[in-house]
Amino acid sequence: MPQARYNAAMRVLITAGPTQEPIDPVRYIGNRSTGKMGAVLAEAAIEAGHFTTIILGPVTTPFPLKARRIDIQTAAEMLGSVLREFPKHDLLIMTAAVADYRPASSSSTKLPREGSWKLELEPTEDVIAAAGASKRGDQRTIGFSLESTPDMDRVRDKMRQKKLDLIIYNPVATIASDSIQPALLYPDGRIENLESRSKADFADMLLQRAMALFV
Ligand code: CTP
Repeated sequence: MPQARYNAAMRVLITAGPTQEPIDPVRYIGNRSTGKMGAVLAEAAIEAGHFTTIILGPVTTPFPLKARRIDIQTAAEMLGSVLREFPKHDLLIMTAAVADYRPASSSSTKLPREGSWKLELEPTEDVIAAAGASKRGDQRTIGFSLESTPDMDRVRDKMRQKKLDLIIYNPVATIASDSIQPALLYPDGRIENLESRSKADFADMLLQRAMALFV
């Protein structure tokens, strides 16, 4: 049974990268996530001595070899892996840019180019909300809120709906960048606005904040 204590090693589950939702064997719906934030977090977690598992969408970013790694493609696969793995971990940090929609049906053969066509989409599962709903008292969940405007009420709503212990406001400019200018929001109303810093510096700091969630 995982039991994280302040200053002790944690069992950390990190998700990273995009998901790809197939239209046919060749085409998919995806997004621009590179997985960089997850990679530096995994590296920092291993450096700090935490047992680290990463669940990874399709990325080309190098990931630390010492982490246990599970590769997935779709939001449904990410959900399955997170629900299987989370009970064995203390902490879930969800940096993955899970696709919010997938094609309502996908073709097993390549679709020919024949005039115009409409693609019907259906919503994917909310992975971190599902993990939050099954969270034990000794577990914590942290999410990233990707926003194109600094609307902190929206960020707080996501924190509540997904039952998070900490949410990071993450400006869209962070995508594919080496730096991040985040804000940390807590369920008790605290907000910590941070200066722009490298993702590696931010990863060390976030792990410290994560440990404090177990005090
Ligand atoms: N997330 C998730 N499953 C989804 C969508 C998002 O687990 N299907 C997680 C992300 O990994 C992130 C957090 O929820 O940690 C917030 O993601 P974000 O994209 O900012 O919010 P959404 O809930 O997708 O809402 P919107 O796209 O409307 O901003």
